[in-house]
Amino acid sequence: MSSNKTSILMVCLGNICRSPLAEGIMRSKLNFLKYSIDSAGTSGSHRGQAPDKRSIAVAKRHGIDISSQASRKLTAQDLEDFDYIFVMDNSNYRDTVALATTDAQRAKVHKILDWAFPNEDLDVPDPYYGGDQGFDNVYRMLDQVSKVVAEKLDS
Ligand code: 4NP
Repeated sequence: MSSNKTSILMVCLGNICRSPLAEGIMRSKLNFLKYSIDSAGTSGSHRGQAPDKRSIAVAKRHGIDISSQASRKLTAQDLEDFDYIFVMDNSNYRDTVALATTDAQRAKVHKILDWAFPNEDLDVPDPYYGGDQGFDNVYRMLDQVSKVVAEKLDS
């Protein structure tokens, strides 16, 4: 983005379950004067929709309001505009890197759990077809890794 803030984009498939949570959690850990944080989905099939009610609920239980977010599709321009792009799983990684046109853009794309668990190739699992427990699990993983990411970026 054309500001002096460090910009962070959270990416999943639908931008209704995982990346809206990742956006809300990361926002809660970083100073908004220094960081801009957004999220997007590789598919675009839920474009314009609010986050899944189960993501809204788990965030709310932890004091975070994500209810006003709206799903949008990841664009090639995002690869240019954002400083850091964090994806949730290998499928997101492939779809996101496929939009990159330069090595510098490719280097911006990170599997988010790699920052807390390097070399373990861990995914934030898609909770869409599961129960509420899957959303608690996703919240816990994202909260843990977001602390690490915030510390690394802010140091
Ligand atoms: P998300 O979850 O990628 O974490 O937002 C999903 C949401 C919707 C679908 C799949 C995953 N879907 O197939 O509609």
